[in-house]
Amino acid sequence: MTARIMTVYGTRPEAIKVAPVIKALEQSPDFESVTVVTGQHREMLDQVNELFGIVPDHDLDIMSHGQTLAQIFARVIEGLDPILEKEKPTAVVVQGDTSTSTAAALAAFYRQIPVVHLEAGLRSGNIQSPFPEEANRKITTQIAALHLAPTETSRANLLAEGVDDTAIAVTGNTVIDALLTTVGKEIPFTDPRLEQLAASGRRILLVTTHRRENWGGAMEGVGRALARIARAFPDLEIVLPAHRNPVVRDAVLPQLEGIDNVTVTEPLAYGEFARMMSASTLIISDSGGVQEEAPSLGKPVLVMRDNTERPEAVEAGTVTLIGTNEERIFGEVSRLLTDAIAYRSMSESTNPYGDGTAARSTEAALARLFGR
Ligand code: UD1
Ligand code: UDP
Repeated sequence: MTARIMTVYGTRPEAIKVAPVIKALEQSPDFESVTVVTGQHREMLDQVNELFGIVPDHDLDIMSHGQTLAQIFARVIEGLDPILEKEKPTAVVVQGDTSTSTAAALAAFYRQIPVVHLEAGLRSGNIQSPFPEEANRKITTQIAALHLAPTETSRANLLAEGVDDTAIAVTGNTVIDALLTTVGKEIPFTDPRLEQLAASGRRILLVTTHRRENWGGAMEGVGRALARIARAFPDLEIVLPAHRNPVVRDAVLPQLEGIDNVTVTEPLAYGEFARMMSASTLIISDSGGVQEEAPSLGKPVLVMRDNTERPEAVEAGTVTLIGTNEERIFGEVSRLLTDAIAYRSMSESTNPYGDGTAARSTEAALARLFGR
């Protein structure tokens, strides 16, 4: 009998990272794939499903503007429970550390369905940062039956917390699978300003920001730093695909209004964003996924956080943690834009998160779990 694997996901980064696994399961004779989206994100989630040609079997459609963490959690558990009862999956796969991910894991655990945790073992060591993701991933570790660690570092974190070695497999990160199947495609930009910019050959500073712990004053400082950078380097173009969250937009965008060399766009579809990363000179971001992708592309990333659960990219030299202080952001960006040696030392292409075969390793680990 084939094992029935239910994958539950809800936000953009989860969608990108589960897509290669869903595709692998769909093609395997050993597994039947059932997909559930919670709709914690809406447009940003749908963009990814569309790109990878995934039509979810169930959609909880939970998103509301201004949703609280407790609301997301409660709606996921309540919406998923009857689906678990009806579909009776052999195992439930969750990814990473979002509210969707941990709530889905708990709903499955309550029905005594084994939980498979993709991207297990990341730790910043600070329960308040990233908030609430560090807590989410630790909770999921407590109830997972199989822990798929992207690197040896994350495996070591799990072992240090007493997770049984036989329940861990090191697979690489499936984001690299997604990136490598997407980045070479030269997908056209929907926004004509970006197509013109790509053709112009100008230097591009690509920016993304959304982290909950940076909301408010820290994010306003990021907006001010970007405005200063744009004015100090008129030959540079700053591209900011703005996260859909109104809290983020209200903090950052007012400071960038009326500046010619700043282009603010809607979130880019993943294929377009991958192309924009490739075309950029430098990236500043507080995103987890971007920290993992950039080393593969040899693009320096200045991370607007004080800590990271992704030390591999820092060790590889492509990522530097710079925090959210306006002065520091301005100083670090200025240095990389004017010091060719400092820039070159950060732009080596390395693959600490895998070689694009993580989905295959995930499938193999699942097959072992079910004795196939
Ligand atoms: C969530 C995750 C975070 C992840 C991030 C990726 C939690 C607690 N946080 O944070 O770990 O890094 O996604 O981006 O799970 N919105 C839309 N359309 C969309 C998406 C969001 O309008 O497609 C708006 C809504 O008003 C929504 C708000 O953004 O209420 C916040 O979304 P939410 O998922 O609660 O938080 P994120 O900050 O996106
Ligand atoms: N991304 C995207 N379009 C954008 C910005 C980011 O497709 O406009 C991709 C990016 O390449 C990465 C993922 O979204 O794979 C990261 O998502 P996000 O920063 O929202 O979440 P995090 O990784 O911090 O959880």
